[in-house]
Amino acid sequence: LTVSERIQAELKILKEDSLFRSPVLLDRSCGECFFSGCENKILNFCSNDYLGLAADQEMSDTLSGLVKKYGTGAGSSRLISGNYSSLVNAERKYADFFGYADALFFSSGFQANSALISTIFSADDVIYFDKQIHSSMVSGLQLSDAKSSSFRHNSLSHLVSRIERNNCSGQAAVLTEGCFSMAGDIPDFEQLSNLKSTYNLFTIIDEAHSLGVCGDSGRGVSGNIADIKVGTLGKAFGFYGAFLLLPEGFKDYLINRARPLIYTTALPPFYGDYVSILLDKIITMDNERDLVRENASYAIELLTEKGFSVSGDAHILAVHVGVESKAVAAAQQLRSQGIFAAAVRYPTVAYNKAILRLGITSSHSKADIDILVSTLKKIFVNLGL
Ligand SMILES: Cc1ncc(COP(=O)(O)O)c(C=O)c1O
Repeated sequence: LTVSERIQAELKILKEDSLFRSPVLLDRSCGECFFSGCENKILNFCSNDYLGLAADQEMSDTLSGLVKKYGTGAGSSRLISGNYSSLVNAERKYADFFGYADALFFSSGFQANSALISTIFSADDVIYFDKQIHSSMVSGLQLSDAKSSSFRHNSLSHLVSRIERNNCSGQAAVLTEGCFSMAGDIPDFEQLSNLKSTYNLFTIIDEAHSLGVCGDSGRGVSGNIADIKVGTLGKAFGFYGAFLLLPEGFKDYLINRARPLIYTTALPPFYGDYVSILLDKIITMDNERDLVRENASYAIELLTEKGFSVSGDAHILAVHVGVESKAVAAAQQLRSQGIFAAAVRYPTVAYNKAILRLGITSSHSKADIDILVSTLKKIFVNLGL
């Protein structure tokens, strides 16, 4: 087959298996989140903008001012002429706030994870990873020289059996998440902390979905057990980009060795000042964090009461559907009634284990959640779920 013929054949199979993705067209030019061409406001349960910062008018004005001051682009990679003092100052501020020796910013969480994991480990090391870690960490593993071994999702007993079966002459490391991006559950960090000391594990915890929205002033859920923490700015921070929180020496090493950082254009000069202001703002948002927690508890209670199978320990909830075609149909029917919720399918989750993923935010009201649950109930009954 030629490459075009093979691609056509694969697309056909994706469509037949209800696995074809066609992103929904949206238009936010009006300042709200509308489906393109639709007059009605929609209820969005897909967004990771947990604190409502992506549409905050004051923050938009702040950003506009900084773009006016600095211009738009970095013009070069960080190692050539893109190492702006605003970014270096922001890195100091993030490191101090989260209690690490250093911080290092990247243009995205995908880039941060793949750069980190592909760069710091050697062939003597073994990396144990939760089966549900984000694809960006998996990409890092694929590019790394280290051996890797998966353990069942959130099963630390399975992690132990993996560690005891392997012979590691270098560093044994564990990759997991703070609040899992799809299942929404939080690992048992106390137990992981015990394993860390017993087996001398180096821990990397991706808190993409928990920094900013969970914990004391947004410090997340994993306490101080992570040797390296990963944070993203595209979710609770309502912006884009990501940061690694690092122990001594790692920042210099990554700047010298991480190809995804070295060979890419640096973040623009306004970025550092903006994310510094953003962190100050995040720290003040206890009310919004409380609202997220209250809304999520309310949604779990209501969904459970109405007979849905739902999981999630915080603000990300997975409503279990199973068959891919039914998850897609449920999401489409919700959309036709003005509610936006993502049907998440293989390969993002296991085959035949499709879910509707709900992101609960501080912008939702209890009435919004009532509408979601009652509409979803009717749709599930119609679909025989
Ligand atoms: C757990 C996790 N890590 C990393 C990322 C990637 O972050 P970004 O969107 O900044 O590339 C995501 C986002 O999808 C995520 O859910």
